[in-house]
Amino acid sequence: MDPIDAFRRPADETESRRANRADWDRYADEYQSSHGEFLGDIGFVWGPEGTREDDLGVLGSVDGKRVLELGCGGGQCSRWVRTRGGTAIGLDVSHRQLQHSRRIDDQTGVRVPAVEATATALPFADRCFDTVFCAFGALQFVHDIDLAIDECARVLRPGGRLAFSITHPTRWMFVDDPGPEGLVASQSYWDRTPYVESDPETGQTLYVEHHRTLGDWVGLLNRAGFRITDLIEPEWPADHDRVWGGWSRHRGLLTPGSAIFGADLVD
Ligand SMILES: C[S@@+](CC[C@H](N)C(=O)[O-])C[C@H]1O[C@@H](n2cnc3c(N)ncnc32)[C@H](O)[C@@H]1O
Repeated sequence: MDPIDAFRRPADETESRRANRADWDRYADEYQSSHGEFLGDIGFVWGPEGTREDDLGVLGSVDGKRVLELGCGGGQCSRWVRTRGGTAIGLDVSHRQLQHSRRIDDQTGVRVPAVEATATALPFADRCFDTVFCAFGALQFVHDIDLAIDECARVLRPGGRLAFSITHPTRWMFVDDPGPEGLVASQSYWDRTPYVESDPETGQTLYVEHHRTLGDWVGLLNRAGFRITDLIEPEWPADHDRVWGGWSRHRGLLTPGSAIFGADLVD
């Protein structure tokens, strides 16, 4: 891997989107070959713990529902929704991720219509979905999170359902290391400064990730008109030994790795 510089520094929406689109275009092939089997071509996994929507049911029934997935990547979750009777549409900022989605459509025969767009400007009419979800997708990559959550509220019908998974906010206290180093709290939980990687030679921004505390998420959802029904912090399964980036059994048995929110848009 080429050397990179990693900092905590401000990064606005334009810088975040440009960097992350290019990063996911570069990384998509490796992402799908490393994690595709774990995700399953037609499978709904909420995060590195392997929590499955089949077991969780945080979306509720999707049968007959119009469903939008933000940051759909290879479309695995949307494909699962389609096999449960929902009409899922995927949205992703990365062209290469969507090419993988097309490939898996062809391989499985379960097709997910998808659009290349950003979660902060959804190219859909008001109130046209029953459900919006995001499995470790766009939400932690956008700077303008108020706008992204407002967009979810705009495209949902009153009473519609929003569910999403993110890196558990407490993870931001630790360096992203699956081993013992990753259990030493060294950064403030309340420091919302983005994590930014850049090329040490050109200074070009390569990747940006944004942190919000649990309280921030509660405020964001309330302000946009959602009533929070679920905050799920999946426990690491005893028989699960897979390392995914900074997620591992070593850390996962001690501290949460993912948070899954479920919320209803108030009528
Ligand atoms: C960790 S991957 C998750 C993909 C998929 N949900 C899965 O579980 O495999 C994050 C995805 O979010 C997408 N993404 C990042 N920023 C985005 C944005 N601003 N709008 C839409 N998608 C975005 C990336 O291109 C990538 O496909």
